[in-house]
Amino acid sequence: MNPNKALWEKGDFTRIAATMRESGEGLVDRIGVTEGLKVLDLGCGDGTTAVPAARLGAEVLGVDIARNLVEAGNRRAKEAGLTNLTIQEGDATDLGELADDRFDLVVSIFGAMFAPRPFDVAREMVRVTRPGGRIVMGNWIPGDPTLVAQILKISSAYAPPPPEGFVSPMTWGVTDHVVERFAAAGVPEAKVSCAPDTFVFNTPVSPKEFLGLFRTYYGPTMNAFEAAEADGRADALLVELEELFEAQNQSTDGTRTSIPATFLRVTVDLPR
Ligand SMILES: C[S@@+](CC[C@H](N)C(=O)[O-])C[C@H]1O[C@@H](n2cnc3c(N)ncnc32)[C@H](O)[C@@H]1O
Repeated sequence: MNPNKALWEKGDFTRIAATMRESGEGLVDRIGVTEGLKVLDLGCGDGTTAVPAARLGAEVLGVDIARNLVEAGNRRAKEAGLTNLTIQEGDATDLGELADDRFDLVVSIFGAMFAPRPFDVAREMVRVTRPGGRIVMGNWIPGDPTLVAQILKISSAYAPPPPEGFVSPMTWGVTDHVVERFAAAGVPEAKVSCAPDTFVFNTPVSPKEFLGLFRTYYGPTMNAFEAAEADGRADALLVELEELFEAQNQSTDGTRTSIPATFLRVTVDLPR
């Protein structure tokens, strides 16, 4: 099976996404989603940004590689009575059946960054966006001291080395790489802007329990624990992650966790 698909179908990202809803809504409010806008949410998961975009009246198509998340997203859309949101299975590296210039806005929040072959991803996002349209990406930043960049950094130190030729998803958090990838897709550098932004993970459980959700349901952390268990280092990994979650938590209520995490917000304004 495609390892990229297997990674995201392995766990249940809905359990993490449930802690990201407020920031998802906040982001959608800031990026100019309006009634009737044709929006593609790429790597949409169960709809953290697709659902609020549809609530604002946009015509939203969500695409995600993980079958379980597609099903979960469509369930959420149905429960919310959103007939203007459909989620289907697809791969950001090849959006084959989606027509050129189909969307006014392509959004990908911590989604397309996880696909392999980033130059193909940039080309596909540009292809399906109409001239004068916009692409907005949210990408975690390598070396950033906040939660997700650190989880991925710590986890990678316990996981087996990646296969040869592997391009780290975190490179999408580096402006020079972003500019290079969109330039190869025909977008001038002046049309690409990158700025730091923040997502807050909010959940009514302690930091330790929140880490438990990552260990049980978040593919990259599940893989790291499996590898660490195989070579007797699972306790060390747990201690490192517990320290991280405790240190990042800003809630003073011991039964809650609130952790802000910095990401790179990429905005690409396509020439007309
Ligand atoms: C960290 S989750 C983010 C989900 C959602 N955007 C959110 O903010 O809740 C990453 C998502 O990207 C999806 N994904 C990973 N690789 C993909 C690919 N090649 N094509 C489409 N989706 C992909 C995963 O299945 C997963 O839903």
